[in-house]
Amino acid sequence: MSTELRVEKVSKSFPGVNALNEVNLTLKGGSVHALLGENGAGKSTLIKIITGVYRADSGSLKTNGEEKFFESPVEATHAGIAVVHQERNLIPEFSIEENITLHNPPTRLGIVDQSERTRMAKEALQTLGFEIDLQERVKNLSVAQMQLVEIAKALVTHAKIILLDEPTASITNAETVKLFKVIKNLKDSGSAILFVSHKLEEVYEICDTVTVLRDGESILQSQPLENYKQSEVVDAMVGRHLTDRKVELREVNRNVMPVLELVDVQTALGHEKISFSLYPGEILGMYGLVGAGRSELARSVLGLHKITSGEVKLNGQVVHIKTLRDALHIHHIGYVTENRKEEGLFLTFPVRKNISITVLSRILQKLGIISFQKEDAISSKYVERLGIKVVDNNQLAGTLSGGNQQKVSVAKWLAAETNILIIDEPTVGVDVRTKASFHELIIELANTGLSIILISSDLPEMITIADRILVMRDYELVDNIHNIKDYPTISRAVMTAIHPV
Ligand SMILES: Nc1ncnc2c1ncn2[C@@H]1O[C@H](COP(=O)(O)OP(=O)(O)OP(=O)(O)O)[C@@H](O)[C@H]1O
Ligand SMILES: [Mg+2]
Repeated sequence: MSTELRVEKVSKSFPGVNALNEVNLTLKGGSVHALLGENGAGKSTLIKIITGVYRADSGSLKTNGEEKFFESPVEATHAGIAVVHQERNLIPEFSIEENITLHNPPTRLGIVDQSERTRMAKEALQTLGFEIDLQERVKNLSVAQMQLVEIAKALVTHAKIILLDEPTASITNAETVKLFKVIKNLKDSGSAILFVSHKLEEVYEICDTVTVLRDGESILQSQPLENYKQSEVVDAMVGRHLTDRKVELREVNRNVMPVLELVDVQTALGHEKISFSLYPGEILGMYGLVGAGRSELARSVLGLHKITSGEVKLNGQVVHIKTLRDALHIHHIGYVTENRKEEGLFLTFPVRKNISITVLSRILQKLGIISFQKEDAISSKYVERLGIKVVDNNQLAGTLSGGNQQKVSVAKWLAAETNILIIDEPTVGVDVRTKASFHELIIELANTGLSIILISSDLPEMITIADRILVMRDYELVDNIHNIKDYPTISRAVMTAIHPV
């Protein structure tokens, strides 16, 4: 019989939330199934129940006709199910090949067969078109490279059922194209694939069937995707009609002293002759391919890497920022890191603490003690503002859905009320509705005078909200485009800048 996985009437509650309520879903060999829903809808929870990470409260799971829930992830792996979870599961101190073969290292005479291990890891990475030294420690990789290692780790098992929870959230478009080729090959060879993504264009490109979750219920159940228009799928996710929003062109006064100015900056990482100015209330986009050096430049300005020559000026004064702490407390610059999973949040702390952490010292200074009321008031304000799905402010950040964790890490910087905010890839992994409200919020903040540097690989996002776009290629600024909200013209200019002829 061909491969099949059936989820029937599965329910799961956590304290205060019904994460899944009698959910049904059928995966079939030879097809790609989209699992969609807003942040917190229950997608990752369902994947964790299928793979034995969580235990369901009720319902059943049938794999190729056999009814049984897996007791552990190992059992699911042995039953031929591979998974790429939304959060990373790599061991930073281990090499790439050790990570890829972690769950089933090849052995010979009872010891690990090193050359076979290298061969397996190489083959899995090659199918993704990803070339890298297999002995490199995972801790030295970029976010995108780590994601590719995660995917290779799933492919190496040659499983017939493959569950992918937002595999494309942090990889480039070119890497996505390669991943999609791999997915199509797997599908042609009879595998059943589950694909989670907030990028609907991708979903329409490779998925055959769809299940939509809303507040833990399966609103659409294993339907052919071609029967639904994109707007209908969005309506199913959101539960109401989402109207298109128009963005107005903003006026930015550039005849004043810039709040931030870089003059011929060179960094230890290889940036050359970087000069630009950021004006009060401006949203300055920084576009480029993943790896172009944008985050690295931001981190250098903030003191995380060395600036070897040139000047950084704040309000006309030359400064030498040494640490992120100084950047925040002395210079009033906030930085929402791209690497939010590792650097952005204290997962074992409540949401309340995570949001108010940047303002704690201010509260402390003024009152001499930390006011819990104040902490609560600040966090409630942003929980509401960003629509963060929590039971209450005391919920631990680690138990929020991936997208809601993202929102908390952005909220904490908004709460800090800085003069300059550098935001790195703000909407990766964020659902469509929230993305629109993020954009509104960023524009509103700029309207109140906050200067923002927006690093994003999402071109439509860039064009929607940036006043001006700097384009970076290979650690150099190659263009400075005044945004005129004419999509085709700007995208052509940007594309020419990043891919020179
Ligand atoms: N370990 C846990 N403890 C408590 N609550 C949890 C836990 N895991 C998930 N939840 C809650 O279950 C709900 C569903 O979360 P889930 O992670 O499945 O969402 P999701 O659809 O994957 O969202 P996203 O798109 O943001 O990744 C959320 O309200 C979340 O806070
Ligand atoms: Mg999730």
